[in-house]
Amino acid sequence: THQWRGIIEEYRDRLPVTADTPVVTLREGGTPLVPAQVLSELTGCEVHLKVEGANPTGSFKDRGMTMAITRAKEEGARAVICASTGNTSASAAAYAVRAGMVCAVLVPQGKIALGKMGQALVHGARILQVDGNFDDCLTLARGLSENYPVALVNSVNPVRIEGQKTAAFEIVDALGDAPDIHVLPVGNAGNITAYWRGYREYAADKVSTHNPRMWGFQASGSAPIVRGEPVKEPHTIATAIRIGNPASWQYAEAARDESGGLIDEVTDRQILAAYRMLASREGVFVEPASAASVAGLLKAAELGLVDPGQKIVCTVTGNGLKDPDWAVAGAPQPLTVPVDAGVAARELGLV
Ligand code: F0G
Repeated sequence: THQWRGIIEEYRDRLPVTADTPVVTLREGGTPLVPAQVLSELTGCEVHLKVEGANPTGSFKDRGMTMAITRAKEEGARAVICASTGNTSASAAAYAVRAGMVCAVLVPQGKIALGKMGQALVHGARILQVDGNFDDCLTLARGLSENYPVALVNSVNPVRIEGQKTAAFEIVDALGDAPDIHVLPVGNAGNITAYWRGYREYAADKVSTHNPRMWGFQASGSAPIVRGEPVKEPHTIATAIRIGNPASWQYAEAARDESGGLIDEVTDRQILAAYRMLASREGVFVEPASAASVAGLLKAAELGLVDPGQKIVCTVTGNGLKDPDWAVAGAPQPLTVPVDAGVAARELGLV
């Protein structure tokens, strides 16, 4: 058959599994690498979008979750737990169903997108809204996993990072070599850690000839790595990356420094402008946090940091349908018309 088999089967020799490991998969990965025509014109570069919203639950989290749930099952876990700004919990809930496990989820009260909450609910997760932010949820989840019979599936679980590094493999496999620059949003900093690991692994094994510079972007109100200290009360409309004390902080700094890259911030206004630009000019609908990568690329281009002619990949991490409020907000309400072709044609500007 020609169907993509999921990241564990496709990259089995590069992942911590054995022939006996019971693979739990929704056939995640194999996502499109889409040439970005408008971004390429604007930057004078060859820009591609790695569209991770095309994963089974609509975000890149599925790459790590197939590994985390597979290994939890192998180790005999009956229940898993995660802290989440929404996407990790949606993914954990779905993969737990596949594995026949109970899934417990801790989310920050009132700060997760409705689509993500709906996913956790419909997959039957046990959800608690915590009176605190993501960082508080993660502290609580860690404590519960240490003292109760429940396995932690956040990206502090090292096999999550192993799964997520496969996105870098797919990009090199598609382009024939690593790009010059890789741009992505940074929240808890697991994904930038994972991509960097994937790129280094391929370069070490001579699958690629070089490593890209890693460019990460945080939302200005939630930019602890940029500030150099934790942010006690993080804020941003990009709720997925509303994180004040990232668990993989040091790894993100290592990715930046070892690759000669950067970690910078983008404002909510820049994020929303990139979000609308991606949807209206590239035809790619992402959630606001995902647009932080593209907002960052555009900011860097304006600052003159982007030399023309480079090969650049921006990861867009989650599907726009997760959080459609921002698509509807501020847009004019469509007109209501009678069943009349003449009226409809006039209103549509066809005559
Ligand atoms: N983009 C989206 C859509 C996310 O959901 C996240 C993280 C990120 C970017 C940042 O990735 O944390 O690896 O640096 N979401 C986590 C969650 C925190 O709970 O779903 P990161």
